[in-house]
Amino acid sequence: MKSANDMAICPQNLSESKKAHRIFVDNKTITFQANDKSLLECLEKANVEVHYHCRDGFCGACRVTLVEGEISYPQGEPLAFIGDGEVLTCCCVPKSDIKLIVE
Ligand code: FES
Repeated sequence: MKSANDMAICPQNLSESKKAHRIFVDNKTITFQANDKSLLECLEKANVEVHYHCRDGFCGACRVTLVEGEISYPQGEPLAFIGDGEVLTCCCVPKSDIKLIVE
């Protein structure tokens, strides 16, 4: 059973009309609202520590492993190298519930 500390919500740009997605990471369940700007921003609000530098898809510092689910890059494919199963949190948003490994 999850405690209150295991749940966090990213309230920015909350939209009743769009479906939210759940993010499973570090034994937490976070809610990503459809209008949140990026996965990185949502993780930061939930106090999940993710490395970053450029916050714009160039450096690759925000790379994490996507275990389950789908993401998209609303601004187009980023320039930084992305390995198989990896995503750049600074410029992606979830398209479904997702499970991440942040190292
Ligand atoms: S922080 Fe540089 S690519 Fe995400």
